[in-house]
Amino acid sequence: MKIAIAKERRPFENRVAATPETVKKFVSMGAEVFVERGAGESVNISDKEYEVAGAKITKDAAATFESADLILKVQRPFLPKEGKDNEIQHMKKGAIVCAHMNVLNSPEQVKVYRDHGITAVALELIPRITRAQSMDILSSQSNLAGYRAVIEAASVYDRGFAMMMTAAGTVAPAKVLVLGAGVAGLQAIASARRMGAVVSAFDVRAAAKEQVESLGAKFIEVDSEEKGDTSSGYAKEMSTDYQKRQSAKIAETLEKSDIVITTALIPGKPAPKLITADMLKRMKPGSVIVDMAVENGGNCEGSVPGEVAEVSGVKIIGHLNLPARIAKDASGLFAKNVFNFVSLIVKDKAISLNFEDEIIHNSVLTHDGKITSPLFKDE
Ligand code: NAI
Repeated sequence: MKIAIAKERRPFENRVAATPETVKKFVSMGAEVFVERGAGESVNISDKEYEVAGAKITKDAAATFESADLILKVQRPFLPKEGKDNEIQHMKKGAIVCAHMNVLNSPEQVKVYRDHGITAVALELIPRITRAQSMDILSSQSNLAGYRAVIEAASVYDRGFAMMMTAAGTVAPAKVLVLGAGVAGLQAIASARRMGAVVSAFDVRAAAKEQVESLGAKFIEVDSEEKGDTSSGYAKEMSTDYQKRQSAKIAETLEKSDIVITTALIPGKPAPKLITADMLKRMKPGSVIVDMAVENGGNCEGSVPGEVAEVSGVKIIGHLNLPARIAKDASGLFAKNVFNFVSLIVKDKAISLNFEDEIIHNSVLTHDGKITSPLFKDE
């Protein structure tokens, strides 16, 4: 069993899909591990450390992938249409590629894997069941992204977060508002609280109230009977009446806030626009917004992917790939998630995919020249 670890090539990506710790575990499972030269450079893991863990260092993508049975990546491979960086061309027929494929936003890749006879695993589609918690890349990466969002906000905010009493006077604590209290939002609340801020938060799911309050933040209530909870745990799109009431409540809270972290997402839909240009005008100049939903269209009007925009004196941070801004820890957790998934599919030093297992059934996109994912049709 040959496992390959690639150097990530997509823009804004600093993570790596395996660490010396997980390489060591793959070797003790009986695998031969190939790590592309410089794969860990961006997180200060040297080739030597991978070698000490038992890996062989390969000179480029072609040499890394050519005989690999299992290829581990953070981001989806470059496809033939992406030109000279095309990684698919180096993969052998029957190879398994595991990555955060971002397949709901880039569905065109599925047919390419099928046509190349590659077994593609979209790690983001692993169901969020208890047994799969240790493989949940969405949670591990969102968690760190939530933390990082607070740090990004603090770094451009021209005041402090904590209340400070000094001989020269008192510094008031920052007022932080978190919109969307899922994995990233809850970590943003906890991080802002640890830094001394006064935090309030809002979510359309009623279940979020208790979690927000257990972290010491105030939950903002919208005057409506409608709730956004669904059986999947994700939020649904809310009615127009609810959205109106929610907007009024958010506008009122925004005026008093210094820092806003927005994380609201609805699977398969554009991110809800929660902050309008009008609301921005009513905010205090110098306030800071981190729009964590920027890659899905953004929660805030005026946010620009990859930039720090300024609208009506409010700075709007639209950084892409926040987990890659805390790349070493993000890689460590991602690598463990991947290792736990690989442990599921390796039996007696060989790979076997049990399609009756809901983890495999939901996460495998293509296999044996066919599209197997329940989300895509094999035409
Ligand atoms: P997400 O990234 O899809 O969305 C982030 C948050 O935005 C969610 O809390 C959602 O309710 C909220 N949101 C959506 N529309 C909104 C609006 N208009 N206004 C305000 N907030 C809005 O969600 P994430 O963080 O991936 O978690 C979704 C759910 O999955 C949560 O219930 C979480 O507890 C659950 N979960 C379960 C796991 C497990 O059982 N293994 C693991 C991780 C999460």
